[in-house]
Amino acid sequence: MTKRFENKTALVTGGTSGMGLATARLLLDEGANVVITGRDEDRLAAAAKELGTTTRDLDAADRLLTVRADAASVADLDALTDRVRDRFGRLDVVFANAGVGVFQPSAEVTEDDFDQIVGVNFKGVYFTIQKAVPLLADGGAIVINASWTLHRGLAVASVYSASKAAVHNLARTLSADLAPRRIRVNSVSPGFIDTPMFRGAAPSEEEAAAYAGQTVAGRLGTSEDVARAVAFLASDDASYITGQDLLVDGGLVTSIPA
Ligand SMILES: NC(=O)c1ccc[n+]([C@@H]2O[C@H](COP(=O)([O-])OP(=O)(O)OC[C@H]3O[C@@H](n4cnc5c(N)ncnc54)[C@H](OP(=O)(O)O)[C@@H]3O)[C@@H](O)[C@H]2O)c1
Repeated sequence: MTKRFENKTALVTGGTSGMGLATARLLLDEGANVVITGRDEDRLAAAAKELGTTTRDLDAADRLLTVRADAASVADLDALTDRVRDRFGRLDVVFANAGVGVFQPSAEVTEDDFDQIVGVNFKGVYFTIQKAVPLLADGGAIVINASWTLHRGLAVASVYSASKAAVHNLARTLSADLAPRRIRVNSVSPGFIDTPMFRGAAPSEEEAAAYAGQTVAGRLGTSEDVARAVAFLASDDASYITGQDLLVDGGLVTSIPA
């Protein structure tokens, strides 16, 4: 297997589950040192155990650092940066992935709901990147996890979708801001991806199948589908791609299934 990330260090926020966990696994498999974050020490320990047993590399455990850090807390992000600097000295890749989905009609959104979603999905991504940039090597790459909902309206996702539109817009601006250091900034927009977050919104098999039926691919996406797209954007294979959003959605946004 080609190892695109040997001697590189990657930060994956929200690495305990779903797409973050799958991306951490792929980056470890491709040789990177990987830092994963989450809000809970037990979940981080479980993720580390899973990564230790499911990556192909025997030394993967030595290349993994887990850090408890709430993405919505700037103080936690400062402490995270210190831990990364102490352990690895620098970063080459940032996957700003941590996010929350709260889905309800706009009339039911409370101020607390608004602050929670925006606090993690927008403020969290903003300050994750701001704090990481001083550690990021020239020529590094940032990938933000956005969502298909930035491209197409979804009735119960007013705040969530706006937070995702905000972070894609951030990718565009930062691609110009950080270009003098050859740092590329892109987002991915996953469609319906079979993760704990998705299952929270579609708990029954019937609901999950109905969502899958809305895609041209005729299936839900996997976390690995998205991890491969993130690794592509983070790698030199995407050396001339910056400020873009890459839909990983089985055709959900662009086409209506036959
Ligand atoms: N699943 C989908 O269909 C879908 C579609 C489009 C976009 N997305 C986006 O994809 C990203 C990953 O979602 P997923 O589906 O893989 O969900 P998931 O399996 O629920 O994972 C979410 C991850 O984010 C972490 N997290 C949540 N809030 C956090 C916070 N305040 N600070 C630090 N970490 C936090 C969680 O860690 P702990 O719980 O351990 O703290 C977990 O590792 C999110 O940004 C989501 O909006 C998902």
